[in-house]
Amino acid sequence: MKNNILTMAFILLATNLVNSQKAELPDALQKKWWKEAVVYQIYPRSFKDSNGDGVGDLKGIISKLDYVKSLGVDAVWLNPIYASPNDDNGYDISNYREIMKDFGTMEDFDVMLKEMHKRGIKLIMDLVVNHSSDENKWFQESRKSRDNKYRDYYHWWPAEKGKPPYRWSFFDVNSNAWKFDAQTNSYYLHYFSEKQPDLNWENPKLRQEVYAIMKFWLDKGIDGFRMDAFQFISKDNTFPDLPKEIVNTPAAIIKYYLNGPHLHDYIQEMNKEVLSKYPNAMTVAEGAGDSPEAAMKFVDPDRKELNIAYHFESVDVGKHLKDFGLVKYKSIFSKYDDKFEDKGWLSIFLANHDQPRMVSKFGNDTPQFRELSSKMLSTFVLTMRGTPFYYNGDELGMDNIRFDSIEDYQDVDTRNKYIGIKNKGGDLNAFLAIQKQSSRENSRTPFQWNTEKNAGFTTAKPWLKVNPNYKTINAEAQEKDPNSVLNYFRKLVKLRKQEPALVYGKYTLLDKENPNVFAYTRELNGKKILVLLNFSEKNAPYNIKIPIAKSKIILGNYKIKKINILQPYEAQIIELK
Ligand code: BGC
Repeated sequence: MKNNILTMAFILLATNLVNSQKAELPDALQKKWWKEAVVYQIYPRSFKDSNGDGVGDLKGIISKLDYVKSLGVDAVWLNPIYASPNDDNGYDISNYREIMKDFGTMEDFDVMLKEMHKRGIKLIMDLVVNHSSDENKWFQESRKSRDNKYRDYYHWWPAEKGKPPYRWSFFDVNSNAWKFDAQTNSYYLHYFSEKQPDLNWENPKLRQEVYAIMKFWLDKGIDGFRMDAFQFISKDNTFPDLPKEIVNTPAAIIKYYLNGPHLHDYIQEMNKEVLSKYPNAMTVAEGAGDSPEAAMKFVDPDRKELNIAYHFESVDVGKHLKDFGLVKYKSIFSKYDDKFEDKGWLSIFLANHDQPRMVSKFGNDTPQFRELSSKMLSTFVLTMRGTPFYYNGDELGMDNIRFDSIEDYQDVDTRNKYIGIKNKGGDLNAFLAIQKQSSRENSRTPFQWNTEKNAGFTTAKPWLKVNPNYKTINAEAQEKDPNSVLNYFRKLVKLRKQEPALVYGKYTLLDKENPNVFAYTRELNGKKILVLLNFSEKNAPYNIKIPIAKSKIILGNYKIKKINILQPYEAQIIELK
């Protein structure tokens, strides 16, 4: 009896101790799989074609899962694979519970998910519910009559009220988000292309539809969602006139779109109705406002919304590092890290399907420096605080294709802007010159597997031209070379997995004003790691006060090191003693 009481008392004491330790741990240090994961983004249209139609597909992805596994990554984020007429490459969904014909069938999906899980790879799907396709059944019904039961699934403005107050559209030829629909003498709203009508989140029925779709996929076993264009979902349905000073300046108008009146109410409702029932699901808020404070609102654990904020400030900063400079660039990451030091969680990324290639924007894709700077940038992504989202092909150092002609572009964004400029008699050459650097198509060219026809991506004519440099830049060649960009990336992933300081460790920026070197430490439980990155093509000195003589370089992209100086695009990861 006495013994039992003693044992009970001991258990109680021990549990209290563990709980109090847990309670003391700040949110940022609490372990979660999605904080420790390295996410690999696959653009399905361009990854691997299995059936010879020139378009990547699910069976193609399945055939390459061993490659994905070999990278060491933990999760795959797949761009939309739902039924779609492809006005915006799958970001216009006509049926949320079907697979796009180009990509395969639901059976293929089930096999793909099973094969991923078998390899310990989790699957994150895109959730595109700010808008649907105009070919979605909901919209087809909605546009039929003003009293159709789906009418309020979208935003309509009756023409008898006059023209609706101006709203800017990302992809519309005339940058006008209202499109007149004669059938009901009304305008509908589309922040993106006219084939992407915005869904009306103010309608509770629509929200319930979205929650049901989420459950459908989560019950199939997927591991989370990347929430597309989420910051735009809530609108003031009275559509007031915009303040005069912001009309016609797209950046300001976008700012006005963000954080609609009930945005966070809806995300909290979604959390209560869906996400709280799937506590392990990863949820990533694309965009996440325009400041660290706004981003935090999406992922502050006390607010019970989402997990990871994927902010745009570090990619929207400009077209090329040369234009905005490293000091500014560093300050953006530091500003966000500062806000997220104790709670909430960020993603770290340099590229995705909406951006040009990482090496062409932040590095140097000339033959002399392409490999070195790709490795340096990968070092950055894999050693920062935040979940790395790494875009397929960057592990090979794939770079911008820089199309010469508008005919080569398939992207609704580039094509519609081109038409808009043409209609206004604008400078098309200047526009095309900018697209060479910044177009989304640069990152969407087919994955370069080998030296076979079309880089081994397809046996047919590919939907988008393959970068002709595939003869030298391809996965097969890099497999064989222990010093390739690919094998360096694998080492980085492995290191991050082995070293909790690289995941949870405190980030401290050093040598803040250095225009060429990004230097920082990551520190956890007495372990301190220094990361030195030269973002320039010159030798770059740095000025840090930490003695590093006895320290050990764990990984770097140069064999021979110089004292107190970093060579062009050099990266060093140093364990401080
Ligand atoms: C996606 C884009 C897409 C847009 C409209 C984005 O933020 O990433 O690729 O064009 O949403 O859905």
